[in-house]
Amino acid sequence: MVEALAVASGKGGTGKTTATLALGMALADEYEVTVVDTDTGMANLLFHAGLADVDVTLHDLLVSDREATLEEATYDRFGMRIVPCGTSLEAFQAADPARLRGVIADLAADADVLLLDSPATLASRGAVLPVALADRIVLIVQPTIPAITDALKVQEYATAYGTGVAGVLFNKVHDPASVDRVVDRAGQYFEGPIVGTVPMDDAARAARRAGRPLLAHAPDSDAGEAYQAAAASIDVAVGEPGAFADRFRNAVLPDPP
Ligand SMILES: Nc1ncnc2c1ncn2[C@@H]1O[C@H](COP(=O)(O)OP(=O)(O)O)[C@@H](O)[C@H]1O
Ligand SMILES: [Mg+2]
Repeated sequence: MVEALAVASGKGGTGKTTATLALGMALADEYEVTVVDTDTGMANLLFHAGLADVDVTLHDLLVSDREATLEEATYDRFGMRIVPCGTSLEAFQAADPARLRGVIADLAADADVLLLDSPATLASRGAVLPVALADRIVLIVQPTIPAITDALKVQEYATAYGTGVAGVLFNKVHDPASVDRVVDRAGQYFEGPIVGTVPMDDAARAARRAGRPLLAHAPDSDAGEAYQAAAASIDVAVGEPGAFADRFRNAVLPDPP
């Protein structure tokens, strides 16, 4: 039984990778969690998770002359299974995104929650793939009008592919008290609940520098606690594993709507 959640935003740098690992660690208390860095062009999850030096990554699973096994690209860390992606341009160019479907389908067999750390959805044509394939998205949004507009566009894409919205998480919030009004007003345009408001917090950057997920590095920080609260308010809907795997294997590579 698995639910695939794409952690998404319109642009880069909103905190998707930070959120993916934080939500993953929090949900791992209750579920079998697998995290995949599907941002194959701008992968950075490896740096957040202390996996910068590993040999085998998702890239090695996406090539036509694949020799690596899924197990070799999967690392047990921080209570989760993590499939990082490499950062070499040649490997990115050699990788066939269509193969992601099969990899995800195989990973789905052993997980309750599959978190897809997604590329910036609006950045390039193929970037919508994880959003299109997931059951639902978790939107990471900075509390500014342009970022909210971008997030609504991502929601529109998701909806066009039949992908729901599990939650909206506001990140890098400077002044949580004054943002309440923005969050309340924005809430009516989103098709899922606002699951959290994460403050701007140096602990997040320090964790990144240390190469550790925030909830391993500073779980009691303001941001750490906000992510844990957000994870608790996501109602994970684990579905039928077989149906999910088939859907992934058979999915047609999407064009943006
Ligand atoms: N709540 C936060 N407060 C301060 N810095 C943050 C916060 N969330 C993320 N960051 C920092 O912002 C940068 C981008 O975050 P990252 O998760 O890598 O974004 P994305 O994956 O969307 O590109 C990183 O340096 C990260 O440490
Ligand atoms: Mg990222």
